[in-house]
Amino acid sequence: MRPRVFVTREIPERGLSKIKEHFEVDLWKDEAPPPKKIIIERVKDCDALVSLLTDPIDAEVFEAAPKLRIVAQYAVGYDNIDVKGATERGIYVTNTPGVLTETTADFAFALLMAAARRVVEADRYVREGKWKVAWHPMMMLGYDVHGRTLGIVGMGRIGAAVARRAKGFGMRILYYDSIRREDLEKELGIEYVPLEKLLEESDFVSLHVPLTEETYHMIGEEQLRRMKRTAILVNTSRGKVVDQGALYRALKEGWIAGAGLDVFEQEPIPPDDPLLKLENVVLAPHAASASHETRSRMAEIVAENLIAFKRGEVPPNLVNQEVVKVRPPGFQ
Ligand code: GLV
Ligand code: GLV
Repeated sequence: MRPRVFVTREIPERGLSKIKEHFEVDLWKDEAPPPKKIIIERVKDCDALVSLLTDPIDAEVFEAAPKLRIVAQYAVGYDNIDVKGATERGIYVTNTPGVLTETTADFAFALLMAAARRVVEADRYVREGKWKVAWHPMMMLGYDVHGRTLGIVGMGRIGAAVARRAKGFGMRILYYDSIRREDLEKELGIEYVPLEKLLEESDFVSLHVPLTEETYHMIGEEQLRRMKRTAILVNTSRGKVVDQGALYRALKEGWIAGAGLDVFEQEPIPPDDPLLKLENVVLAPHAASASHETRSRMAEIVAENLIAFKRGEVPPNLVNQEVVKVRPPGFQ
C-alpha cells in the first residue's frame, strides 16, 4: 500500500503530481488553512504531512497521528512546527531552503527601495488625483539607496543574497549574526559588527533571521531607538522578530523614517491595525517568495524530500538531523 499524506493546501501542480505518483494524497482544497481540529482529524492515518507556515504542527497533532513519520514543510521557515517534539517521536521535518533565496532577496530589496523612494506612496498620490503641480523641487523626496549603509541581521542564504544585491548599489554592508561568516566577509567585503553598532550606523536594516526563542522581539523599542531617524527597517523574515507595537510608535513618532514589511505579528494583519494608517510604511501580504517559478520549485522540493524518505534515504532538506539516531528514514 502506498503511504498516505495529508497536504494542507493546494501546492503547485509540478510538486503535487510528483507526490501523487508515490503517495495516497488527501488534499485540503480551501484557500484558507484547515482549522487545527481538521488537521488533527485528517492526520490520524497519515504516514506523512505536507504543512504550510500557517499550520500549527505541535504535540497535539503528533499525538493524533501515531503513524506519522515525516512533516514536509512548504517553506524555508518552520517556526510553526514543534521540531523538538518531532525529533523525540522520530518524526522527520524537512523544509524548502535554497530555491527561494534569490526570490526572497529580490523582494527584500524591492521593499527597501519602495520604502526609501516612496514608490507605493507615489502611486497612491498619482491615482488619487493629488498630482497637481507638474514638477516641484521638493515633491516626493525620499532617501538614496546607492552608496549608503545596509545592516543585515542574519547572514544565512537570504542575508547573503541581499548583500550581493547591495554590492551592486555600491553600499557599505554591515552584518550581525550569531555565527560569524569570514568566508562571506572576504567574498563580499561585508563587516561583522555587534547588533547595537549595526543599528546605530545603518541607513537600512534588513532582517533575515529565523524566528526562534532568541530572535523573538529582537527588534524592540530599545533597538528602534538606537537606529537613525532617517533609517528604514525591512522585514521579510517573521513578524514576531519585531515588536510591532514598538515599531508602530517608532514610525509614528519619527524614531525611524520608514519601513517595508512583508510579515506581521498577526497574519493577515487586522484591518484596524494602526500601521495601515501610516504613509511611511510599505506593506505586503507575506509574499516575498511568491514568484511563479519559485513556488513551483518549492513544491518540487517538498516532493523530493518525501520521495527520498520513502526510499529510505535521509531527505535532502532535513531540519532535525538528530532524528536519524532516533529512527532510520522510511515508512517501514
Ligand atoms: C516563507 O515565509 C517561508 O518561510 O518560506
Ligand atoms: C534561507 O534560505 C536562509 O538560510 O537564509
